Amino acid sequence: MKLHFLFCVAAAALVAVCGEEEESEGARLLVAKHIHNKYLVENMDVIVKYTVYNTGSAAALEVEITDNSFDPDNFAHVSGELSARIDRVPPNTNVTHTVVVRPRKAGYFNFTSAEVLYRRKDDAPRLQVAASSEPGLAYFTSYKEYDKKFSSHVIDWAAFAVMTLPSLAIPFALWFSSKRKYEKLSKGTKKH
Ligand SMILES: *[C@@H]1O[C@H](CO)[C@@H](O)[C@H](O)[C@H]1NC(C)=O
Ligand SMILES: *[C@@H]1O[C@H](CO)[C@@H](O)[C@H](O)[C@H]1NC(C)=O
Repeated sequence: MKLHFLFCVAAAALVAVCGEEEESEGARLLVAKHIHNKYLVENMDVIVKYTVYNTGSAAALEVEITDNSFDPDNFAHVSGELSARIDRVPPNTNVTHTVVVRPRKAGYFNFTSAEVLYRRKDDAPRLQVAASSEPGLAYFTSYKEYDKKFSSHVIDWAAFAVMTLPSLAIPFALWFSSKRKYEKLSKGTKKH
């Protein structure tokens, strides 16, 4: 009994599958929620990808992924349904869904799981409830901080340009002075 409980707790980390009786038949979904960004910055797009993988023996039906973790106070919704419906996920198949949101402010944010509902087989009397994985704690850099970092690279490039300037300016100066000399010379010959 205790062991079964522990198993359920461990399994809950990936998917909540603690039904009363375990049916071996039917669909079984694992849902991963990942953040696909190199930088997390205030007011810039955050790409959230949900990967649904069916490890079961039958197609999952009426799959619904609902993510209530992006409250409108903290996030602007850019694209992708926050409540997505996938009619059918065949066995051994991955289906992905993408949502884009924009954090309204800088600071720490705990990315939590999305809720998943599905029917394990055609004649399943009730829907299976599951949860996606949790990306966990993240930090959104303020736009100012990010911009400072970015513009420091611009300064680096400007410094590089200034340093390479003499190597361009010296030949130009030489060419220019010889051109002037030549012009003076040709003017002088015209007068004669
Ligand atoms: C489905 O995704 C999982 C995890 O991302 C991966 O290990 C597996 O190879 C994928 N399977 C197929 C059939 O694409
Ligand atoms: C993030 O949220 C999850 C689920 O609510 C919680 O278990 C976890 O402890 C939280 N992590 C942090 C660092 O607050």
